[in-house]
Amino acid sequence: MQYRYALITGATSGIGKALAEALPVSTHLLLTGRNGEKLAALALALAADGRQLETVIADLATDAGRAAVIDRAEALEIDFLVNNAGLGRFGAVADNPMAVEREMAAVNVTAVVELTRALLPGMTARAHRAGTRAGIMIVSSVVAFQAVPYMTTYAASKVFDLFYAEGLAAELRDEPVDVLALCPGGTRTEFFDRAAMPDRPMPYMLSADSVARQALAAMGRRTVLVTDPLRRITIIPGLLRRRILRGLVARVMRRLAR
Ligand SMILES: NC(=O)c1ccc[n+]([C@@H]2O[C@H](COP(=O)([O-])OP(=O)(O)OC[C@H]3O[C@@H](n4cnc5c(N)ncnc54)[C@H](OP(=O)(O)O)[C@@H]3O)[C@@H](O)[C@H]2O)c1
Repeated sequence: MQYRYALITGATSGIGKALAEALPVSTHLLLTGRNGEKLAALALALAADGRQLETVIADLATDAGRAAVIDRAEALEIDFLVNNAGLGRFGAVADNPMAVEREMAAVNVTAVVELTRALLPGMTARAHRAGTRAGIMIVSSVVAFQAVPYMTTYAASKVFDLFYAEGLAAELRDEPVDVLALCPGGTRTEFFDRAAMPDRPMPYMLSADSVARQALAAMGRRTVLVTDPLRRITIIPGLLRRRILRGLVARVMRRLAR
């Protein structure tokens, strides 16, 4: 897919940064995160002749942060929305700080809902007018396929991201908008340090660059991408069953919605 203007949330590190780096220079970029220094460095690194590149420093856990990103994205008429920003926290729900639990819900769930709802109508209308396709990527996780005690809130938020993307994809079946739920397995980023995870070796970690390339290649080709080959073996039979069920439910619900 060749997009005109991409908005990437959580572009300051890890998978979001790798996605920004992997997009062709023909795609203009609106990059956001809280870390202004990292955003400025990335903007410098990715600048290219003819490429428009803007950054917005915003905390997606706040109403004002989400509104600032939405305003800029609307003004720039983005056609590729990457809901990537996210955070986890290792620990029992009863022990985790309330502020972190709230931040996980706000960034991993509320920001995805608000950015998508606000930007989707314009993206759809412009794609119709231009005869092109728009794209929405929502970064979920392999943890979305089972409850994960001691990462309970994080895993539950990623279930939301997965189901939201799958439902949205079915709603947009006849529209020029592709939706991808990206479900990375363990990926070498700052995520684990930030989540206060115990420092133990994890099996089969991919680089953020590899995850980003697989994700961009999957846009418009599939609805769910699981990047970890080992987890794929266990998850894919369930995914096929879910796809059949999703199709049946979508048919019933579409009739009701008419
Ligand atoms: N790494 C993995 O193994 C893995 C596996 C499955 C899924 N994922 C998902 O992949 C996505 C990216 O994570 P990552 O692994 O690349 O981790 P990361 O390196 O920690 O990057 C997280 C990004 O999210 C941004 N972010 C966090 N809180 C924010 C807030 N309140 N407001 C705005 N931006 C915020 C951070 O930017 P600032 O700090 O600049 O705000 C950063 O750019 C997340 O949704 C994560 O759940 C990761």
